[in-house]
Amino acid sequence: MCGIVAYIGNKEAYSIIVKGLKRLEYRGYDSSGIALLNTEGLNTYKKQGKVANLEAFTEDKDRSGYAGIGHTRWATHGPPNDTNAHPHTSEDGNITLVHNGIIENYDSIRKELEGKGYTFKSDTDTEVLCYLISDIKTKTGVKLGKAIHLALQQVVGAYAIVVMSKDEPNKIIVARKSSPLVVGIGKDNDFYVASDATPIVEYTKQVVYLNDDEIAILNRDKGMKLFNIDEVQKEPYVEELELHLEELEKGGYEHFMLKEIHEQPRSIKDCFRGRLNAEEAWVSLGGIKEYEQKMIKANRIIMIACGTSWHAGLVGEYLFEDLARINVEVEYASEFRYRNPIINENDIVIAISQSGETADTMAALELAKSKGATILGVCNVVGSSISRITDAGSYTHAGPEIGVASTKAFTAQVTVLTLMALSLAKLKGTICETKFRTMLSELEAIPQKVQQILDKNDEIKLIAEQYQGASNALYLGRGSSFPVALEGALKLKEISYIHAEGYPAAEMKHGPIALIDEEMPVFVIATSGPSYEKVVSNIQEVKARKGKLIAVVTEGDQQVHDIADHTIDIPDTDEHLVPLLATIPFQLLSYHIAVMRNCNVDQPRNLAKSVTVE
Ligand code: AGP
Repeated sequence: MCGIVAYIGNKEAYSIIVKGLKRLEYRGYDSSGIALLNTEGLNTYKKQGKVANLEAFTEDKDRSGYAGIGHTRWATHGPPNDTNAHPHTSEDGNITLVHNGIIENYDSIRKELEGKGYTFKSDTDTEVLCYLISDIKTKTGVKLGKAIHLALQQVVGAYAIVVMSKDEPNKIIVARKSSPLVVGIGKDNDFYVASDATPIVEYTKQVVYLNDDEIAILNRDKGMKLFNIDEVQKEPYVEELELHLEELEKGGYEHFMLKEIHEQPRSIKDCFRGRLNAEEAWVSLGGIKEYEQKMIKANRIIMIACGTSWHAGLVGEYLFEDLARINVEVEYASEFRYRNPIINENDIVIAISQSGETADTMAALELAKSKGATILGVCNVVGSSISRITDAGSYTHAGPEIGVASTKAFTAQVTVLTLMALSLAKLKGTICETKFRTMLSELEAIPQKVQQILDKNDEIKLIAEQYQGASNALYLGRGSSFPVALEGALKLKEISYIHAEGYPAAEMKHGPIALIDEEMPVFVIATSGPSYEKVVSNIQEVKARKGKLIAVVTEGDQQVHDIADHTIDIPDTDEHLVPLLATIPFQLLSYHIAVMRNCNVDQPRNLAKSVTVE
């Protein structure tokens, strides 16, 4: 939910950190700050708003320093303002700290420290942690690393922290529990630290992903030392980053979201590359192969996720049940983890998560694991926390998704789930050879069909213009297009701030139809398939009440063309693959409407890309 960047070495820390914070702004952008250590001492600068505000504020300040810690915030405790921005500093000004996560018992620790005479400047849990470390260090005389160890043993919650001290100026110390932290190892004993690899990749590809309860001391003279919760030193596991710098740039597009929408022909192809061959009629997901027998014999498969990823799970449910005849339940992770669910060793739980860091999904997965279920992951970020705790999984290989509104990750998730459903159906013998081959051919053709829809961008933009002023919107779909309706509604509301609801088309009669009037745009997926005629009836019901009707239809359709106010034609495909195509017009519609409403498309208000707090 927040972004951390830190550096220690022989370069100037300021530019490395500020550039890195801008790469992480998608994780939170309501305030930012930086602390810099140089031979004279420690300088800390903090500003409400985006990183650009911090840059402007430090224009005439001392930006020098060979070590520094930086932070871009998504507020949890305390409103966004200069005081609550990180870094937070101990009362004696000697220790400074940045934090991503939540200290759940911060209030009791704060009261104890106030009882010792400390006075706090901010409303944050982070400042309490900083004071606690300082209090331990001052009272016991231990070194900073030990003081951090002792303090974290008193803490309940999630954290990724970087700590720096004037007294021990040759090191920065990092620690994590449940919130991600990556250490980049530079070429001349310099170290880069960040919440994910994007601020690090341009300096080094050698990284260490910190695990829960690990602490690392990064010393510019002595190198890196890694310790577990019992202070036993361990060898860091150095990995080679697969990320490339150009993936992190906008590539000429106005927004990351637009770039990522247009990347989908490639990202879907990358997702199934090496995993399917229509000509030779095979599907192979290496990451879960050893679990496929267990999956087809499982009582049920539970898919847990949040937001867009939950919508992908709903599509997966249709695919797994119809093709592989496996019972599937799709659960909001945040609900699943607290309702004391009945889980046992015969269950398979699949977590779907672009970031692989969503706190609720992570917690639900840990609950399932503790009750003996087999846990699998469908993640996009390699090395993410969820991908590291699952027994197995399949990466979506969509590449970094920077725009807060998920687009290419959704179609990649649906692609992986389609591959899984096909592989399991083949193994279980619930799909005939002809259908199997047809679906593989159709899946291989999806990237170019997505491109055909993207080529209609200008036509879709004209439709967007008609509805940019709407206050409400309704999205309708049947079957596996119902989750696409939910996803379309989520896209519109999260980037244009127009209230939108997704509904099963037939359900409209049970309430939402009362909302229909000439002010209400209704977006409907009315592609050819078994429920087409029924959707046409729903469309008639909307028109009878003067609703404005925008329909996504299969190329060649005439019947809906004659009724709807606007139609967007998409290429024909197998009914199971329609979600991969029908979602594209809704992504473009919401993007253009948001731009026309001067909304911040890549960083919508109140949102963050990775919700790493409950
Ligand atoms: C989707 O556009 C949103 N950004 C949000 O709903 C997101 O899908 C959700 O927070 C889950 O994130 P995850 O896939 O990284 O777990």
